[in-house]
Amino acid sequence: MANNAIGRVPAHHAGKQRVPDMIPDGVHVLSLPSIRSLTAVDVNAAASEILDMSKDRFYHVKSPFEQKWAVHHDGIYDLPPAVEKAMQFLEGPVFEAHAKNANVPSLAPDGDRYYGGVFRYRTQGRLQAHVDAGLRPYAEGKSRWRKHWTALMYLGKGSGDLQFWRGDKCTADNPKLYEGIGFVRPSEPKVVLFENNDYAWHGSAPNWSHWDRLVLTVSYLSNEVDAFDNKREREFFVPYPDEEWDAYTYAARDLRAKCLDK
Ligand SMILES: [Fe+2]
Repeated sequence: MANNAIGRVPAHHAGKQRVPDMIPDGVHVLSLPSIRSLTAVDVNAAASEILDMSKDRFYHVKSPFEQKWAVHHDGIYDLPPAVEKAMQFLEGPVFEAHAKNANVPSLAPDGDRYYGGVFRYRTQGRLQAHVDAGLRPYAEGKSRWRKHWTALMYLGKGSGDLQFWRGDKCTADNPKLYEGIGFVRPSEPKVVLFENNDYAWHGSAPNWSHWDRLVLTVSYLSNEVDAFDNKREREFFVPYPDEEWDAYTYAARDLRAKCLDK
């Protein structure tokens, strides 16, 4: 691709890659009936609240790798009531029902919501394939924590599949993706959970609908710092199998992976 200038969102990858219509092993999906059986969270109210939040509550993340609006981190404990209830649903019942049995005794919801997020992906909003951060950045006086599991909740009607990919180990030299292994369609409320291991490649295709794709994220941390080799403190992006990056895009990727500013 010739025009992957830094700061410009590439127009490629309009969801063209064929990814099988299945959910990969190890990925847990709760659809609306399961959500309703676990909680009284009003997903429609939460979606409306996110759409009604003032623009200054968000910052625009726009890079060659992502195009989204994220609630400022210092406002992550000051959410509208139904959104807060949905976050607590991920931190409580979803964790209890699905992640607690992961054979990781220290696994617990991220009490600081360091990785907690509320996101709006407007039309064309996208997130390049990546593996999430492996370790929580070191904080003075605190032990290190592994970002061991990732939980997402889709609330809106927006499109742009959450795609999972088979690829090299994320710590390999210049890791590559090979093929899509499954996807989750976000256009109706769902919860998705997966282990953030060294092969947990995922990304979101562009939202080509007029609805915003609304996403909440919560992480479950453990003290098993060495459970996986991924010691990066931010997500690490890679090209799709049919995509070529120029040297500037790789440099931007590497810089992004080292920069801890949120
Ligand atoms: Fe991710």
